[in-house]
Amino acid sequence: MKDFTYYNPTRLILGRGRIARLDDLIPDGNRVLVTYGGGSIKENGVYEQVRAALADRFVVDFGGIEPNPEYETLLRAARLAREERVDFVVAAGGGSVLDGTKFIAAAACFDEGEPWRILETRGAAVKRALPFGSVLTLPATGSEANPNAVISRREWKVKKVFGAETVFPRFSILDPETTYSLPPRQIRNGIVDAFVHVMEQYATYPAKAPLQDRQAEAVLATLVEQAPAIMADPPDYDARATFMWCATQALNRLLAMGVPLDWSTHAIGHELTALYSLDHGATLAVVLPGVLRHKIEAKRPKLEQYGDRIFGVNSAEEAIERTERFFLDTGMSTKLSDYDIDAAEAAKIVSRRFEETDMRLGEHRDIDARAVARILKDRA
Ligand code: NZQ
Ligand code: ZN
Repeated sequence: MKDFTYYNPTRLILGRGRIARLDDLIPDGNRVLVTYGGGSIKENGVYEQVRAALADRFVVDFGGIEPNPEYETLLRAARLAREERVDFVVAAGGGSVLDGTKFIAAAACFDEGEPWRILETRGAAVKRALPFGSVLTLPATGSEANPNAVISRREWKVKKVFGAETVFPRFSILDPETTYSLPPRQIRNGIVDAFVHVMEQYATYPAKAPLQDRQAEAVLATLVEQAPAIMADPPDYDARATFMWCATQALNRLLAMGVPLDWSTHAIGHELTALYSLDHGATLAVVLPGVLRHKIEAKRPKLEQYGDRIFGVNSAEEAIERTERFFLDTGMSTKLSDYDIDAAEAAKIVSRRFEETDMRLGEHRDIDARAVARILKDRA
């Protein structure tokens, strides 16, 4: 096992009606900015619950944060936070609103030039940020309990990740009932995203870390077992609560401790979103089976353990097949052609981007631009 330091300061509050406690979680007298997306929280009652909880405070709103939050939009929100002398930010929505709010919180305190530097330095330039908390409405990204964010700049067709300990949420409220209004597309995006987060931290090579393996397998097995109940209509409260907790556990840093990390599926997936506007979860279902097949020899011992413990199969090949079938069973597509994307063209453009930066991916840093091209060509 590798050495590690585990740190996670986010207070997590899971349960029905817990948004009503929001005010107790914010320091007295703080002026609050509430951030949200395209309006789902106005339709499902979350906005009203948030405003009712904060009724006795100074509150200013910023809505319109896009899925795959856009840099220019977030700069406007950061300006508003400064103008209104906001002390605390509450993000209400999915991963995009939470990620966007992390950027807003950092950009509002950034005096070292253009805030794009925050992204260019992957967060190293962030010294301060406004404190913020979240009300999560879409279990998927783990953004509610981690210090990372992914920000898009559409004019450049880029999507960039940053992380900084100052943007850990102070708290996150997880009310499973807020997920009842999710359309099936977003539920399957969330299931696949949480599943692939675990795989990026687990399907590598054995690291003599049996506890981390079992923790990862617990999340994977629970998602496979519960997926039909999570997708059920009418919604099943306990399955949605389990979904929220799985997605949080999948990316709250715990599974990454002391083990090798892959993250190549995400790196390739972000490029597909930047180029073709594919949903994040959709990119992962396309790319992961390709990465696993391409790296099957290096990953074989872990894939065999995974196949045995999660699906009860005997080979790495069958484990990959069952993974793809699990995605398909949620209603997710796993091929680029299903999205009318030409795989040869995607392979060419995406691999060129990795070539330009000489980026090497995977736990062995051996997935280079040519390997990325091969992986994508095979996902036609
Ligand atoms: O914008 P609104 O109107 O709120 O609608 C959203 C959006 O259209 C809707 N939605 C959210 N909660 C809802 C709801 N609709 C009905 N009922 C609800 N309860 O769902 C749509 C998608 O929302 P979005 O926030 O974009 O989805 P998700 O949570 O999957 O977040 C995706 C973003 O997170 C990044 C992705 O790259 C992508 O930009 N990620 C962040 C990570 C992190 N911070 O650690 C890790 C992930 O790997 C991921 O990269
Ligand atoms: Zn993800």
